[in-house]
Amino acid sequence: MKIKIESKESGKAIAHALFFVKKSIQFSSVLSEKATEQAETVLNGMEEGPFEDLEFLELDGVPTFFVNAAKERGLTSLDHLRMAAYRLAKQAKKKQISCVSLMLADAAPEQLKSIIHGLYYAEYEFDRYKTKKQKSFSVVYEIVVQDQAKEFSKIANDVAIEQASISMARDWINTPGSDLTPSVFVSEAEIIAKETGLKIKVRDIKALQKEGYNGLVTVGKGSQSLPYMVTLEYKPAKASKDLHLALVGKGLTFDTGGISLKPATGMWEMCCDMSGAAAVLGAIRAIALLKLPIRVSAVLCLAENRIGSKAVLPGDIFTAKNGKTVMVDNTDAEGRLALSDGLAEAGLLKATHIIDLATLTGAMVRALGYAITGFFSNDEKLASKILEAGQTCCEKFWPMPLEEEYADGLNGKFADLQNTGSDAGAISAALFLKEFVPENTSWSHWDIAGTAFVTKPWKYTSHGATGIGVQTLVELARQLGE
Ligand code: BES
Ligand code: ZN
Ligand code: ZN
Repeated sequence: MKIKIESKESGKAIAHALFFVKKSIQFSSVLSEKATEQAETVLNGMEEGPFEDLEFLELDGVPTFFVNAAKERGLTSLDHLRMAAYRLAKQAKKKQISCVSLMLADAAPEQLKSIIHGLYYAEYEFDRYKTKKQKSFSVVYEIVVQDQAKEFSKIANDVAIEQASISMARDWINTPGSDLTPSVFVSEAEIIAKETGLKIKVRDIKALQKEGYNGLVTVGKGSQSLPYMVTLEYKPAKASKDLHLALVGKGLTFDTGGISLKPATGMWEMCCDMSGAAAVLGAIRAIALLKLPIRVSAVLCLAENRIGSKAVLPGDIFTAKNGKTVMVDNTDAEGRLALSDGLAEAGLLKATHIIDLATLTGAMVRALGYAITGFFSNDEKLASKILEAGQTCCEKFWPMPLEEEYADGLNGKFADLQNTGSDAGAISAALFLKEFVPENTSWSHWDIAGTAFVTKPWKYTSHGATGIGVQTLVELARQLGE
């Protein structure tokens, strides 16, 4: 795919695309008066005749896609545009149309951004393991603008960077557990560090043990593929000295549950249990390439939760990095143990703001499903920024309560804490994390267990990793850096 922002039509377009909402054309277009009238007649009559989304009709002598930008239920108008562009791109590929001109002369910048995101989503394919790869047809999209060429070109470039990061995150997530082990993930992070010039620090199990990162050690020691912590730092010269955003990601490259073994059905999906780390790595890559003026660090907590002769036993007690002792009541509640070290590391880096992303609880999947990410925060200002950034990026968030009343459920019998609570699974998990958040730090925890990976088509994902979180993190960094 190629996107070209032009100040006049190149004459190469084989088809036009006209976005409509209900019965109206959405953007003012370059159509002749006669063709505009014709389009309006078609739209007015669409309920009577056979008229479908992506109808292909001739206007001004050019075949024109009529793209419905209000088709699905429950989406914002920006997300409708993404979906419309996604469907259009799928159709253009199917019909093998080499150049499509989008009529967006008076689109607002955020509308253009949404449309370009939608076009990119249609490109994603995870076919590494297919012996017969589908031939991909490359379409050129021409966007004819008036005086916004410079602004629109920047948007197109920025979206290209974000989308490349999203696709990388999705590739890592979709890769089976045996092929993306903690050490393979470390190599991926090293590649990103090289590409972007980010500073990188890798701790192996020896370093983790020596420095007391025992949460990650406890979770990962049962596997042949041993745990790692990766810290990446982006510190641009023009960033404010008072703000340091740390992104912490759960990176369980596979979660069998450990000795508290998970049931067989659907266990394969646990290759997605490193989606938090993937989103965080994707986000810091984009933030660095976009040269956003804000200091950002990323901490990836990488481990594999497996059964083995060295695996942690239920009832085992370890001392976490912040000195608290923890009894492992259930080895399947491993994400919070791994994250305890990520949060401690963010504190040592002197982060002012911490956001952790984790496929943390089945309870969150049951509460909010696959379309909404539940998040927690100890700072209302940060929470409202997250909601706002999410909306801009068409990623839905819902604030959850850090309800202290449930905190007693985490009291350990022989240790300070235990890793499961008695009620409210997603809230208990968040309260457990809170025990490890450094003092005087704005913090938010995103439980992406439902939204990171889908097993049926959802929006612009047929199945598998959605890449959730990358965009909202980038947008948040953009806003915090302003
Ligand atoms: N990785 C899982 C959570 C999960 C569930 C992610 C569904 C993606 C989709 C997590 O480690 C886990 O197993 N959590 C347990 C915690 C329980 C034992 C307290 C859960 O939610 O069942
Ligand atoms: Zn688990
Ligand atoms: Zn897990």
